[in-house]
Amino acid sequence: MLRQCVRVQLNTKLTIEQELSDWLKRALEQAGGQSLPADADVSVSPTVREEFGDYQCNAAMTLAKAFQQKPRDLATAAMAAADSHPAVARVDIAGAGFINIHLWDDWLAEAVAALSVDARLGVPVLGAGRTVILDYSSPNVAKPMHIGHIRSTVIGNALDRMYRFLGFRVIADNHLGDWGTQFGILIHGFRHFADRAAYEKEPIEELERIYVKSYERTQTDPAWLEAARAELVKLQRGDAENLALWRSFVDHSLREFERIYARLGVRFDLVRGESWYNDRLPELVARLEALGLARESDGALCVFSDGAMPPDEDPLLRHEGGEWKPAPCIVRKSDGGFNYAATDLATILSREEEFAPDAIIYVTDERQQLHFRQVFHIARKIGARARLVHVWFGLMRLPEGTFSTRQGNVIKLERLLDEAEARALAIVRENDPSMPEDQQREVARCVGIGAVKYADLSQNPQSLVTFTWDKALTLEGNSAPYLQYAYARISSVRVKYAERFPGNDPDAYPIRFSAPVERRLALQLLRFPDALRRAALQYRPNVLADYLYETAQIYSRFYQTAPFLRAEEGLRESRVRLCGITARVLKQGLQLLGIETLDRI
Ligand code: ARG
Repeated sequence: MLRQCVRVQLNTKLTIEQELSDWLKRALEQAGGQSLPADADVSVSPTVREEFGDYQCNAAMTLAKAFQQKPRDLATAAMAAADSHPAVARVDIAGAGFINIHLWDDWLAEAVAALSVDARLGVPVLGAGRTVILDYSSPNVAKPMHIGHIRSTVIGNALDRMYRFLGFRVIADNHLGDWGTQFGILIHGFRHFADRAAYEKEPIEELERIYVKSYERTQTDPAWLEAARAELVKLQRGDAENLALWRSFVDHSLREFERIYARLGVRFDLVRGESWYNDRLPELVARLEALGLARESDGALCVFSDGAMPPDEDPLLRHEGGEWKPAPCIVRKSDGGFNYAATDLATILSREEEFAPDAIIYVTDERQQLHFRQVFHIARKIGARARLVHVWFGLMRLPEGTFSTRQGNVIKLERLLDEAEARALAIVRENDPSMPEDQQREVARCVGIGAVKYADLSQNPQSLVTFTWDKALTLEGNSAPYLQYAYARISSVRVKYAERFPGNDPDAYPIRFSAPVERRLALQLLRFPDALRRAALQYRPNVLADYLYETAQIYSRFYQTAPFLRAEEGLRESRVRLCGITARVLKQGLQLLGIETLDRI
């Protein structure tokens, strides 16, 4: 659809979906003669089928009742009342009352052209003035990092990058497990059967051996258990000798973790362990007691349900044998040691005081759901203001079984990364034997690490993931190597153009569509900001991954059907520009997932 050409200014505050949604909301209000509640859902999304137009909205159906109108009538009235919008060529009302929006071709072309000269690719600064704390990775000291921590690291880091790009102030905090029950068991075990030479050489392996042995003893020997508990209490009260041992466990572990972070390209703003909040625990207890939230039960300090919420929503109750029983949250154990929940509550108070965050987002595996429900529930009662979000994921499986704590040790994870690089290297050598060795290695590193990350990020975090090498490293399907190769091929178009038409600037020509696939590609590029926004706000990096994969597929249809360098002047430049924007979108999108790209693969 064409009309007189317009200059399109990028909206720096809203994405196109948000803008269309505001526009529809005003139209619905005019049609209904009343204003909508602030939280009314008038969301606009890409159409599922192309023949229905570019964007769709089903608000007429969800709001019909409130307006006491039939959905179709409401939609029709809204469209009659709507102001004209510079992007909207036509609106169809379909079925029971779906609103289908068609954009003007020339508006779309201009909008994509504007995006091409924008450093942010049209992504508005949605998070301005807002602070998000992202608590991720957070492995336990003196234990090998298991696959759950790797997933937390990869998913958390993608969220970290996305929120930063959206303009939020992000504080990435690696909340190390450096203060739990395991230290009593470990210190007691270390005094009895540490092998100093082994500890110097392979600290985490040795600590794990000691831990397992000491832990087993706690199961059969009550005196041993008692002694381990006493060591923990001594440590938590600041005993110098125990503190020194503990410090050395922490330092050794951090060095090992750092190696993995460096390989994964992950950096934190803060690396504060649970221990950091130790001094704040008494204050937390005082606050809980003053508010009448905690009381002693069998010597332990517990928070019980106050009965204020429906039992099936109350995390301090559990259903058992046909009735609701108390499921208190233990803050301080009868031996005086503090629990994981106590530290997390003190951490929230401290974070609020120091950073005044709008949200705190925790990324862990599914097994911690109850823990966070309890902690969030109590945190709200003691006055926490931030939005508290637990992003949980299922455990990843290998075809031969789950990555368990016992198998998925640090060495195995580093081996996983080594193997990814080795396999990628074999593929690179086969594809391009003439490439210099150094470069082959660099490509293999980038492709191998990217493949491992993408295998994780391209799945819905909450679905069960089975990791296979073939799937991760394939050049055909939805994988990092496929996207990395696509990126390299697309970038080469501009280089070839510059060789053939030296001194010519494709950006001096307008973008235009001569075939449906060109329009489809432009529409896809315009959707980048919304894909990113949706992925971040839903805490699902896979939404962005799916978008990138779809973009690469549409590009490949475009590339196969539309000649570039042989096209007539003008069309040729328009196509080269679309290529250039596609390359930038893919590069930026992959970078937001923590995946590197190379111009030549
Ligand atoms: N250290 C914990 C674990 O390994 C994860 C900590 C998550 N963060 C938090 N604030 N609780 O399971």
